Amino acid sequence: MKRRTQLIKPRIREILNKKLPEGLVDLLPKHWVQIGDVLILPLREELLPYKHEIAKVYAEVLGVKTVLRKGWILGEFREPHYEVIYGSDTVTIHKENGILYKLDVARVMFSPANVKERVRMASMAKPDELVVDMFAGIGHLSLPIAKHCKARVIAIEKNPYTFKFLVENIELNRLQDRMTAYNIDNREFSGKNIADRVLMGYVIKTHEFIPKALEIAKDEAIIHYHNTVPERLMPKEPFATFEKIAREHSYETELLESRIIKRYAPGVWHVVLDVRVYKK
Ligand SMILES: C[S@@+](CC[C@H](N)C(=O)[O-])C[C@H]1O[C@@H](n2cnc3c(N)ncnc32)[C@H](O)[C@@H]1O
Repeated sequence: MKRRTQLIKPRIREILNKKLPEGLVDLLPKHWVQIGDVLILPLREELLPYKHEIAKVYAEVLGVKTVLRKGWILGEFREPHYEVIYGSDTVTIHKENGILYKLDVARVMFSPANVKERVRMASMAKPDELVVDMFAGIGHLSLPIAKHCKARVIAIEKNPYTFKFLVENIELNRLQDRMTAYNIDNREFSGKNIADRVLMGYVIKTHEFIPKALEIAKDEAIIHYHNTVPERLMPKEPFATFEKIAREHSYETELLESRIIKRYAPGVWHVVLDVRVYKK
């Protein structure tokens, strides 16, 4: 695979050298993300007048049907804002760790940097556990748990468009017997004291959902708590906030593990904590 990538870059450069003004080939992206047969390409301002020609060459050399210009992931639903610069169909099926993820890459976040966490989740739970995924997306974390750990999973996703893919993915991976999906805001979920494990795969405002996670969790459950943290507050945060909110709701906490998932922005990290919670 590495060898193939090494051959791809010179090939793209060679073709575009003939099409772009002098010097611009040096600015071509050296890294990109491929999800199924859709490519996400970061393009610098200077290359924008040639974005369609550039995208066509990347598409042909890499054998993808659609190319998106990388933009931002924003808002409550963490939706990508990417421009289609080649092709038109942005729905694809991505295979990872034996799981099929169907998604619309232009409208649903799927971070390659979170792959280690998706793989980690695949060996976390035991078959007799009930896991509640409060921010399920298309099943990013809950499909690996249901498929590889054989645990039962309740997956909650608020965005109706993303939810459609979550349901399709449960069927595609034949997990109907183990997974139940709800298209609601997780704060409306009525399950109390039911989960052995709660997934909180969200960023920026995840702390606002800690009381709900505690309500869903059984005594001694594990909560996988994600959040974004300014580097200057680490390593105290994000555990200090989790512990404080848990205490206010009469829970003790035990930090089992803390991991950095990725750099989220300059000076800000996406972190996940594994926390065991005890009802006082
Ligand atoms: C950033 S994605 C992450 C998906 C997955 N948990 C992961 O870690 O890769 C978060 C998802 O949570 C959903 N979401 C946001 N607020 C929610 C809420 N209050 N209840 C249920 N789902 C919510 C968003 O629509 C989005 O699909």
